[in-house]
Amino acid sequence: MAGLEGKVAIVTGASRGISRAIALKLASNGASVVVNYASNADKAQAVVAEITKLGSQAISLPADVSQVADIQGLFEQTIAHFGKVDILVNNAAVILYKPIIEVTEAEFDKIIATNIKGTYFACQQAALHMANGGRIINFSSTTTALMLPTYSAYVATKGAVEQITRALTKELGAKEITINTVSPGPTDTELFRQGKTEAQINHLAQMAALGRLGEVQEIADVVAFLASDEARWITGQNIRVNGGVA
Ligand SMILES: NC(=O)c1ccc[n+]([C@@H]2O[C@H](COP(=O)([O-])OP(=O)(O)OC[C@H]3O[C@@H](n4cnc5c(N)ncnc54)[C@H](OP(=O)(O)O)[C@@H]3O)[C@@H](O)[C@H]2O)c1
Repeated sequence: MAGLEGKVAIVTGASRGISRAIALKLASNGASVVVNYASNADKAQAVVAEITKLGSQAISLPADVSQVADIQGLFEQTIAHFGKVDILVNNAAVILYKPIIEVTEAEFDKIIATNIKGTYFACQQAALHMANGGRIINFSSTTTALMLPTYSAYVATKGAVEQITRALTKELGAKEITINTVSPGPTDTELFRQGKTEAQINHLAQMAALGRLGEVQEIADVVAFLASDEARWITGQNIRVNGGVA
């Protein structure tokens, strides 16, 4: 699938993990890509170099999505460099696995600010600046459909993202902007492995009907589809990309 020639995409948190794969996939389909990062400047620059090798354009831009001024700057700099924004992938997130009795106010504030506030205000910038026919892809998690102990703060943020997507669908529809949520299941990345034993990882892998962890490319392929013209009639949906996790 190609078809993203002439499109400009912002991918948040694209220095590693699922979003790195998304940045590369969108670029291989022809899009120019802004590789946003929080702290990993070198890794983000490496993604830019890979995209350049693919024959597409890319720049890396630092922005802490938990800060509204940084999100505004991300859009301003993207428009200054590429002239517009057609695709926004709100992937950047942090995780917290803790029983509720151990969660601190600072940890809760950080996960809320990164996962909810970051997504919300990036959507606001998209609503202000995105070209007609644009695409927003937000990131939740299959965990919102499960009842996993220690995930309460994380799923609270991801449940909010799902509702933000739904509530914005009609506001953005007037500009023919589609907005959808992608909810991966267990997918092999640093974020997924953080704080888990091998036994826990194997247990989660076996929750999928297909009996393994997802790969980043399998998530990126669905995002690229949602960003494409073929997906123009899909909006307001939550697509669980998880190999059949229940
Ligand atoms: N992996 C899974 O199994 C899984 C399952 C369900 C849902 N998800 C969701 O899929 C998305 C990607 O997950 P992942 O596993 O690929 O994560 P990851 O490997 O941990 O990568 C997270 C990315 O988010 C960025 N980031 C963190 N805080 C940020 C901030 N304040 N501002 C800007 N960027 C920030 C990081 O940037 P730096 O490198 O610069 O710090 C990094 O590039 C997340 O929304 C996650 O919740 C993942």
